[in-house]
Formats: sequence, structure tokens, C-alpha cells
Amino acid sequence: MNSLRTCVFPCAGFGTRFFPATKVIPKEMLPLVDKPILQYGIEEARDSGLDKLIVVTSKGKETIFDHFDRTAELERSLRERGKDELLAEVDAVSRMVDLIAVRQKEALGLGHAVLTARDAVGNEPFAVVLPDDVILAEVPALSQMRSVFEDTGRPVVALMEVSEEETSRYGIVAGELVSERRFRVTEMVEKPKENPPSPYAIIGRYILPPDIFPLLEKTQQGAGGEIQLTDAMAELVRQGDFYGYVFEGTRYDAGEKLGYLKATVDYALRHPKLGREFREYLKDAVL
Ligand code: UTP
Repeated sequence: MNSLRTCVFPCAGFGTRFFPATKVIPKEMLPLVDKPILQYGIEEARDSGLDKLIVVTSKGKETIFDHFDRTAELERSLRERGKDELLAEVDAVSRMVDLIAVRQKEALGLGHAVLTARDAVGNEPFAVVLPDDVILAEVPALSQMRSVFEDTGRPVVALMEVSEEETSRYGIVAGELVSERRFRVTEMVEKPKENPPSPYAIIGRYILPPDIFPLLEKTQQGAGGEIQLTDAMAELVRQGDFYGYVFEGTRYDAGEKLGYLKATVDYALRHPKLGREFREYLKDAVL
């Protein structure tokens, strides 16, 4: 079994749920307190031991790469003005990672975005992180899933328990819990209107084998004319053991307005420099 070192970040969508803010600014670059949303995903991957990071983008998303690049002029100016603390912060981001850029020429869906990264990934297992699914966790969610992958050598998706009313908004797994958090998946049901097979929804973290690529190639355009990752994963489920992991942590859908606000509040409350004052402010604001 090849070890896991690669992570793909699909960032080529239009972000329509966050219009008009994301008409020009990529949603991955919206700030969550003081870091762009994508940086949380990048840090999660890095803290989970992954160092080959591939970002799938589209036209107009160049700022993503600029953010993780050196900014010589800015650094010089900060140095000259003796702003050492700011300089250290800017420098840490520039040195954090080297990103590999892959361009999705048409937004044909998440499955297509992953397929676009095929050559960059190569013949190895890889993780996929959807940056707008932000997960606040003590142990990075990807790291929790990685343990299952290393134990079984099989694909793993992140699972979250949702209420019965919410199941119609997610891909839901069928199967059984085989230990406290490990779930053996036997089927995936996309947005069930009734009788969900379990309360566990698939969230934007996946560990997949390269065998997914030929399946994605064969996958027809499904719901909304898009090539769905779920359709290819459903085929993988039919071919062998497939696991879900009910991660420990809180997930926010920062790709839509309310989820973004909730994430902002929770991250701000935990921020080492802003948290205390922000808590005081909130107390007054909601009274
Ligand atoms: P989403 O549906 O959450 O993102 O796709 P979106 O399409 O950008 O946003 P809305 O629904 O219009 O508001 C899940 C992930 O897949 C990526 C998105 O960037 C997001 O991270 N994606 C989606 C692609 O990279 N390419 C696509 O063709 C579609």
C-alpha cells in the first residue's frame, strides 16, 4: 500500500450560494476571522501529514496562489518599519506550503474537478478536502480518517450525524457501525426524500484510491448536468470494502451565508487575541 501524502482541494466552483460576495472574490479567499477559508483546509492537510497539495481552480482564482506565495515588497516594507510580528505572520503563510495548480476549464462538477487532478495525483491514494466544509476539531478530521485508511487500506469518507429533516440535503450512507466511529458503507443514497438508510451524511473529506479515476471517466453527467463524485464512489462501494468515519469535531458549511456566520462566531470566540473581547461584545449584542 502506498502511503498517503497527497491532498486535492477542488476550488473551481462558482460559489453561487454566496453571491454577490463571490462574484469576483473566490469563496475560498473569504476570511474566517483572520485567515482565508482555504487556509484552514490547507493547515488541516499539513497537520495530517500530507505535503503534496493540489489546488483545482478556474479563471479568476489566482489570488489563492498569491496568498501562499512570497510577497517581497510587503516583507521589505514591514521589515523597514520594524513590524516584526506582522512580518513573521506573513512569512509563515508564504513558507507554509508549495501548491500545485491544476486548472478545470469548465465547471462540470466535483467529480470532474477531481478527475482534472489525475495526472498531478499519479497512481497513489489521495485525500480530497472541500475547503468550504470547515471542521473545528482537536485532532484534524483528516488525521482521524487517515488512521482508518492506514488500518484498512480502503477508501474512507467523513461522516456526520444529521437530523431526519436534514438527510434530504446530503449524500447518506447505508451500512453499519463496526466500532464507535467506524462505519462500513454498503451503499450511498443521494439526498433521500424519505426513509434515510442511516443518520450519517457524507461531508467534504475523502480518502480515495487512484481506482476512482477510471470510474470518474466512465461516470455520466448526473444531477444538474455535473459529473458527481458520489456516483463514482458508489461504484467503488460495490467493488470492495469502503469505510466512513464519524469524525470528532464541528463542521460548518462556510460556502453558504448562515454557515459562514456560525463559523465566524465560533472561530472568533476561540481566537487567542480576539476571543475574550468578542465574547463580551456578543453578550451585549444579543441581549
Ligand atoms: P459546491 O457546490 O459546494 O461549490 O461544490 P460551488 O459550486 O462553488 O458553490 P455553489 O453551490 O454554486 O454555491 C463543492 C466543491 O467542489 C468544487 C467547489 O469549488 C467546492 O469546493 N467544484 C465544484 C469544483 O471544483 N468544480 C466544479 O465544477 C464544481
